Amino acid sequence: MLAASSGPHGNDTLLARLKHRIKADGPLTIADYMDACLSDPDFGYYTTRDPFGVSGDFTTAPEISQIFGELIGLWAAVVWQQMGSPDDIALVELGPGRGTLMADALRAARTVPEFRNACSVHLVETSPVLRRAQAERLADSGTEPNWHRALRDLPAGPAILIANEFLDALPVRQFVLRQGKWFERCVGLSEQDALEFQTGPEVSGSRTGVSEDVRACAIEGSIVECRPYARRFVEQLAERAPEFPLTALIIDYGHEASAPGETLQAVRAHDFTDVLERPGQADLTAHVDFGDLRETAEHDGLHAHGPLTQRDFLLGLGLKERCEKLIANADATTREYIASGTRRLVDPDQMGQLFKVIALSSSQQPPPPFPGQ
Ligand SMILES: C[S@@+](CC[C@H](N)C(=O)[O-])C[C@H]1O[C@@H](n2cnc3c(N)ncnc32)[C@H](O)[C@@H]1O
Repeated sequence: MLAASSGPHGNDTLLARLKHRIKADGPLTIADYMDACLSDPDFGYYTTRDPFGVSGDFTTAPEISQIFGELIGLWAAVVWQQMGSPDDIALVELGPGRGTLMADALRAARTVPEFRNACSVHLVETSPVLRRAQAERLADSGTEPNWHRALRDLPAGPAILIANEFLDALPVRQFVLRQGKWFERCVGLSEQDALEFQTGPEVSGSRTGVSEDVRACAIEGSIVECRPYARRFVEQLAERAPEFPLTALIIDYGHEASAPGETLQAVRAHDFTDVLERPGQADLTAHVDFGDLRETAEHDGLHAHGPLTQRDFLLGLGLKERCEKLIANADATTREYIASGTRRLVDPDQMGQLFKVIALSSSQQPPPPFPGQ
């Protein structure tokens, strides 16, 4: 599924392009490697494919159950009411995949027609392939979505933002501790001309962007991660918030508290694979550090609610009741399909515990509906 074009130096695969770059400029930081693998304009993972579903590489919550997007649509309607029911509200999704979450949310939102009429839909998406999938999926939704490349391109005005499995795709930097000093972890070339992890230049602890508390817990050989793109995302929300009220709902896999450890991973065909094998042909992600998100948000003047587990969030919003309602009129096969999808979302050994939810809002906003808070 690679694009047919070749690079500026005759490099017609991402691997060739990366090798050329490393030979010219030296080893890449993990963040630069991740960025190239996911977003290279010709060969990037998301640039070139729709990776979802059984025949793809992974499945996300909205693709598992329609209830996921429906509950988020109703959640957004309540947030809109709490904002004072403004006549115009931007309903924004970041990294909308196939557009399934938004389609389900808009359908559920029809039960609050004033909200539905106030919504303009904005999709922040860089992948041309997925933009086409989103246009198709939303063709019958009664809305004309607006696409943007970045958060900063959104129009002025109040906004409700949804990001499901978006932040895990943003590049991370890694640092390794050797004899009391921190070094950037990089991707370079071995003597056999293969990609390999290498120890890069020394970086002073305070310039790693990793908190002193986390660095203090590290031992010889520990790897720590810093998430500059996720922080920048929160900072951009905070810059907007004083002028335009907003609430952002972030759902992803990750940890509640910051700690040393490596979480960079590659997934292909529903299995973990080597991060350096076949660049651009596997999904590269890192776990979201919800502790750091919360700290960054509060430091920048936003209110943070959560994190909660996905299980507590969805059950608190009425997942079970909606599931029972859908099942009531269904045949046996459909009943099992709906019930197993619901279990996947909330069972602690599936998505229920690993996935967390946090809401960030402008300080003038009342707390959004957040079960158990
Ligand atoms: C794992 S998918 C999640 C899709 C969807 N939210 C879902 O739950 O099915 C990541 C999404 O983020 C998009 N994406 C990745 N990096 C991005 C970036 N830097 N800016 C905008 N979208 C990005 C991808 O193209 C894809 O739509």
